[in-house]
Amino acid sequence: MTASTQNSNAQNRADEGLLAPTPRHPDSRLEADWLFLYEKLPPNQWLSADYVYKTSFWLSIHADIRKRQHVLIQISDAYRSGDIEWLEYRSQISPRINQYIFKLHQHHNIEDTGYFPQFMRMYPQLKAGFEILDRDHVHLDTLLNELQVLNSRLASSNTEDKALVEQLHQRLMDASELLSQHLTDEEDLVIPILGLN
Ligand SMILES: [Fe+2]
Ligand SMILES: [Fe+2]
Repeated sequence: MTASTQNSNAQNRADEGLLAPTPRHPDSRLEADWLFLYEKLPPNQWLSADYVYKTSFWLSIHADIRKRQHVLIQISDAYRSGDIEWLEYRSQISPRINQYIFKLHQHHNIEDTGYFPQFMRMYPQLKAGFEILDRDHVHLDTLLNELQVLNSRLASSNTEDKALVEQLHQRLMDASELLSQHLTDEEDLVIPILGLN
């Protein structure tokens, strides 16, 4: 078989939707063996009429987390580039960091104590995947605790403190990077379970 025949066969299979979908995050930790449900229910079907009533609650919680994170980084960037003053920065970001931390702890707690153990009982072959997500939660807890300590300092800091802003910014970026990978891998593992059960 020539290279061009192979290419056109691959193209035909892709056109027919026969190629297995790959996880969406470029640094996904999900292994091929864990994707049997993802292959049955790939992301382009998650919000279709047949599945949306089972999948949208989880996706909308994640969308809310991503939005909160985006707003925090926007405020931080606005202050660092001189678009807003210290007092406005502090009054805008401090309560939002508290809400962000609260929402994430609340969401992780429900996953750790309810959903993940239930999913592992339903699909023991996915246990190693959920263990990765559990470890992400532990790592995120550490970052959120550090963020909380810095935010408490910010709330009581009446004079401009650029070093503190940089420390907060770095923690926000670290949390954002980890969450981007975590939320995407989690959706690729969980949403097909919700949709297909
Ligand atoms: Fe999670
Ligand atoms: Fe989640």
